[in-house]
Amino acid sequence: MDASRFFARRAAYLRASQVRELLKWIGRDVISFGGGVPDPASFPIDELRRIIDEVLEARGSAALQYAPTEGIDELREELARFVGRRGIRAGPENVLVTSGSQEALELLARVFVDPGDVVVTENPTYLGAIQAFSVYEPSLVGVPMDEGGVRVDLLEERLRKLASSGARAKLCYVIPTCQNPTGRTAGLERRKALLELAEEHDLLIIEDDPYSYFYFEGPEPPPLKALDKEGRVIYVSTISKVLAPGLRIGWVVAEEEVVEKLAIAKQGVTLQSPTLGMHVLLEALRRGLVDRQLPRLRQIYRVRRDAMLSALEEHMPSGVSWTRPCGGMFVWLEAPPRVDMDALLPVALSVHKVAYVPGSGFHVDGGGRNTARLSFSYPPLEKIREGVARLAKLIAEAAG
Ligand SMILES: Cc1ncc(COP(=O)(O)O)c(C=O)c1O
Repeated sequence: MDASRFFARRAAYLRASQVRELLKWIGRDVISFGGGVPDPASFPIDELRRIIDEVLEARGSAALQYAPTEGIDELREELARFVGRRGIRAGPENVLVTSGSQEALELLARVFVDPGDVVVTENPTYLGAIQAFSVYEPSLVGVPMDEGGVRVDLLEERLRKLASSGARAKLCYVIPTCQNPTGRTAGLERRKALLELAEEHDLLIIEDDPYSYFYFEGPEPPPLKALDKEGRVIYVSTISKVLAPGLRIGWVVAEEEVVEKLAIAKQGVTLQSPTLGMHVLLEALRRGLVDRQLPRLRQIYRVRRDAMLSALEEHMPSGVSWTRPCGGMFVWLEAPPRVDMDALLPVALSVHKVAYVPGSGFHVDGGGRNTARLSFSYPPLEKIREGVARLAKLIAEAAG
């Protein structure tokens, strides 16, 4: 029997992520610039082993038990302090612990998005956010970016157009620092302008911030949430890229009424985040392990970014351009318009043995078929150089 005829209408919006599909190629003889996967050598395995042993020894019965939906109190306190060091004023009541930041996006969509609601995003934007939001049937409006992040002037234009047609945007989802997929970072002025516009048009902002921990070029700009005086910004972050994605712990920082509603939504989704993972993160924060990770990670990823940028410079044919990220894990590549990076992927994988994520999936407007996201976080340096050379050959052949 084909049970798919029983699927709900919304199941039509559930489409496989190309990134998750590409993860299957890791470990074969393919060089993968696919997922934003941390270098496993960055996992502090010995320290985590000690922490897990000690947590189980000292409070195993609590660490293996059910826990509150919002997260264990001590971790909410510790996370409030952690974001406080990034300029965000929050108490434990403003923190919701989630099962990775991906769950936060699902919960936010569940709580805030009605069918037809206008949600503005950077275009391109994070594929997983498009997946999470789409199920709730918003009208996604993508705003172009430049090297300084989302074009606030174009956002303003779109908002005015919407207003003149009687519609109104409700939410604005942005990744202002080391954006996924482009690697771009918005400067302070851009951030202030975005907040002012959000005030003027009464928009709620979702700020997704997994990558600012490895901003390489001096101090990173403050999170939007640190500039937010009205409680208009809902801040989302994660321990995935800093400690280990396998812990599946993220967090939301928001006004208390938002945290309470998200927690009720979470009861129907995951009930709570993994208790052992929460205790492990609590200890990692208390012992300064997370802070000690940061300089190491910046060093690892900075060297890889540099290797990717110099290989692109050396090998790419003319007509191809790319971003020069100040941090994070991604370079965004734009091939000449006639090069279809979606259509080329099977050839890239089977013939050239290199993986990338076609850029079209990150676009909310169906565009971007000549673009691709390259992640420099996972392959070692020599593989980055070799992979870029292979990719350049593929694009040069396709460009003719
Ligand atoms: C922008 C962005 N948001 C959220 C996530 C989800 O991360 P996690 O669920 O591991 O916290 C990712 C992962 O790559 C991401 O790039």
